Amino acid sequence: QHCFTKSPDGFLYCEDTKVQDVLDSVEKRPFYLYSKPQITRNVDAYREALQGLSSIIGYAIKANNNLNILKHLRKLGCGAVLVSGNELRLALKAGFDPTKCIFNGNGKLLEDLVLAAEEGVFVNIDSEFDLENIVAASRISGKRVNVLLRINPDVDPQVHAYVATGNKNSKFGIRNEKLQWFLDAVKAYPNELKLVGAHCHLGSTITKVDIFRDAAVLMVNYIDQIRAQGFELNYLNIGGGLGIDYYHTGAVLPSPRDLIDTVRELVLSRDLNLIIEPGRSLIANTCCLVNRVTGVKTNGTKNFIVIDGSMSELIRPSLYGAYQHIELISPVPSDAEVSTFDVVGPVCESADFLGKDRELPTPDKGAGLVVHDAGAYCMSMASTYNLKMRPPEYWVEEDGSISKIRHGETFEDHLRFFEGL
Ligand code: LLP
Repeated sequence: QHCFTKSPDGFLYCEDTKVQDVLDSVEKRPFYLYSKPQITRNVDAYREALQGLSSIIGYAIKANNNLNILKHLRKLGCGAVLVSGNELRLALKAGFDPTKCIFNGNGKLLEDLVLAAEEGVFVNIDSEFDLENIVAASRISGKRVNVLLRINPDVDPQVHAYVATGNKNSKFGIRNEKLQWFLDAVKAYPNELKLVGAHCHLGSTITKVDIFRDAAVLMVNYIDQIRAQGFELNYLNIGGGLGIDYYHTGAVLPSPRDLIDTVRELVLSRDLNLIIEPGRSLIANTCCLVNRVTGVKTNGTKNFIVIDGSMSELIRPSLYGAYQHIELISPVPSDAEVSTFDVVGPVCESADFLGKDRELPTPDKGAGLVVHDAGAYCMSMASTYNLKMRPPEYWVEEDGSISKIRHGETFEDHLRFFEGL
């Protein structure tokens, strides 16, 4: 069951709510619309897949940091994966259990590591200087830190270069030729560091589970080697990265169950606790960016639908050439001409497009148009470029009611940065 469906008469629904009704009842500006039940269903899919394993679902907060969504994910039992001090502070505010949190990153700051140490979250070691900082944070906080080694397994995730992380020349993690140095270093700080596991993250939008299996085989090998030196590590963290069906072609992509099943036996054979770090596959398909059509124009051989949303609200198409499915939310007159359109925003850049070469019926001014699968890396990457203030967010609740879960930013919010200067 998926939250966004089109009725036979051409209306888009979010669960049982007509998206047009939401559009007609809220502020006149682009907005994100989520299904809260879909978030629950996505977490359930992981929880069911993980049955029989000791595991932590570490939700990658970078994908979407709406505080209400975080609280909901926490109530569903998730932990959190953090990449900055502020993400850690927000996770604490949302009530996440610190012992289910993992602090990741190649440039973690000392003051943030001190907070992580004080709170007792897992910390991934990414480099020599990162290890030094973690030791320093341990001494400042007086707490021994549970650490995982982030190993760069050199597995090609077969994705856009910008979202590949586990390949040889990436800036993340430790290469195997340095592994012994790190093990010796950890041994040298028995009061500061406790090595509890190994971590890898291959990349994002991965659509073949064999890639995860290849990495897990390598990682379990590393764990065997590390255990052979007397370390009692018992966590394998295979990161996040599972892709979703952005193209809406009905193609069957690997599910959370497929992902977990491909590593299950390996994890059990070594008696490991499994940590996974999903972001996109938990939250992307729960949301649409809802826009209004400002007008339609033609230049040369190109037709454009100009909407009020833009690369400021949703940058993935501009930044990665990513495809996100686009459709109108209400039926169009049967004589409306279907053409090939670029769907563009009002921002002063030719990079400002939400979709290229889309077959769509010619919409009227004011018609609602959605960009699908906008729950992950959309609002969290939104900017205020051209002073388009970040949009409000709403969700449809289990009982069908609509709640605002984040205010839209306003021009007054912007002026506040200059008060008293
Ligand atoms: N763990 C680590 C260490 C990560 O770096 C990431 C994502 C995740 C987990 C979550 O990956 P996911 O399950 O969401 O694929 N802005 C890009 C995606 C960047 C992903 C960065 N790391 C996009 O819009 O496609």
